[in-house]
Amino acid sequence: MKLILKHKKLSTLPKAYTRVELVEKGVERLVERGGVTTLEIVAGKPAKLTPRTFRALARGIVQSAKKLKLEKLAIAFDVDAYPKLKEKNIVWVYETLTYNMLLADYEFLNYKSKKQKSSLKEVFISTPHEREAGSGLRHALILAKHVNMCRDIANTPGGDLTPSGLAEAAKTALKGTSATVSVLDEKEMQKLGMGGILGVGGAAKDKPRFIILEYRGQNDKNRKNTKDSSSKGPIVFVGKGITFDTGGLQVKPGMAMYEMHMDMSGGAAVIAAVATIASLKLPVHVVGLIPAAENAISDSAIRPGDVLKMMSGKTVEVLHTDAEGRLILADALHYARTYKPRLVVDVATLTGASLIALGQHAHAIMTKDRELEDALRELGEETGDYVAPLPLWDEYMQYTKGVHGDIANIPQGDSKYGGTINGASFLSHFTKGLRWVHIDMAPRMTSVASDKLAKGATGEPTRLLVAIAEQF
Ligand code: BES
Ligand code: ZN
Ligand code: ZN
Repeated sequence: MKLILKHKKLSTLPKAYTRVELVEKGVERLVERGGVTTLEIVAGKPAKLTPRTFRALARGIVQSAKKLKLEKLAIAFDVDAYPKLKEKNIVWVYETLTYNMLLADYEFLNYKSKKQKSSLKEVFISTPHEREAGSGLRHALILAKHVNMCRDIANTPGGDLTPSGLAEAAKTALKGTSATVSVLDEKEMQKLGMGGILGVGGAAKDKPRFIILEYRGQNDKNRKNTKDSSSKGPIVFVGKGITFDTGGLQVKPGMAMYEMHMDMSGGAAVIAAVATIASLKLPVHVVGLIPAAENAISDSAIRPGDVLKMMSGKTVEVLHTDAEGRLILADALHYARTYKPRLVVDVATLTGASLIALGQHAHAIMTKDRELEDALRELGEETGDYVAPLPLWDEYMQYTKGVHGDIANIPQGDSKYGGTINGASFLSHFTKGLRWVHIDMAPRMTSVASDKLAKGATGEPTRLLVAIAEQF
């Protein structure tokens, strides 16, 4: 799909363009007037269009056009008619419009023998703010390309994307940028004592990998011009890279295993975010760490009751083989220390409990840093990757105690309460002294109808991670 933003009257365009008209009420419909087709889209009162409903509108236009098999759209969009959008800057408005159109145009067709591509070839947007719109579009193109790439990686079935495949995907994603990728194999992880990753990944044929991405932007302004040593190191993103989660020996029942090839969505988002940051040549230093493993079942699988020695030196009692994400993240979070990071953000499809808590409309975030929590909520509104905080209080730490190990990967007695917080509390044993936020992205792993996106991976929170790198 091509996007064109120009200061040019729609009436000068050929009839082949279906005009899009935003109407306040009624029903969506196509109307013919003198050989020109108009697609009427119900957008409500202009005064009521908010940044949130604006995203849905942008996506809805593309979704409707695809459904109606339209090829060329033309729409006049002037920010000045929308008071709640005017509170944002103009670049943001056109970036958000085009970014969301590009996300809505995406389809995952790699496994279709007949590739029924989107019919939509071109969207022409008439705007009086050609310069700002152009700069918004340039940003949107890079963002959407990478978010859609994240969706491709996450949507790939577990049989075709194993840990080594995820490492390959990372290399492909960063090709042509100045970012580097290095991949640690089992032997190298053994030397580092990464018992969590080795334990979880040991049962599968394709052995676990530890993927390290690094991008060092030029004149990283946070490195220079500051005496505060805490703000010096890189931002480290850590992404859960379970390429398939069977649950291990405590195997997931029935349909609970469906879509568990997307249990590497956190890893995919980290790859895509680093690739975006490198493509945008942002003046920051970022590191991406992805512990990649398949939680499989074989005679070398970890058993309930096994005690793993982690890279940090702590021992972890495995009370549940399906709580594997926190085991691999623990080693990655500990490894993050070697960078003396200014900020650590981990992203993981960690708990089904987060869906129970939030439904499917927000990422759960947990941090003890109130400033960081507020900043992320703000960036969530800014980007559309909405986040909602859950507490990370000391009261919950009692549920991480082990019987025979230092700590256990789930509460003793397997309580059904507070599962998302318990996961974060477990991770907090490995992040002492770090500025850290945990993002449980399980609620946003797959799209829901109201997202107006193709079924499958959402590509979130790639955009949010990029915004974090832009801000911190
Ligand atoms: N990958 C799952 C969590 C998940 C479930 C993500 C559904 C997305 C959709 C994770 O590894 C897991 O299995 N968690 C367990 C934890 C439990 C054993 C404490 C869960 O949520 O049931
Ligand atoms: Zn699991
Ligand atoms: Zn998992």
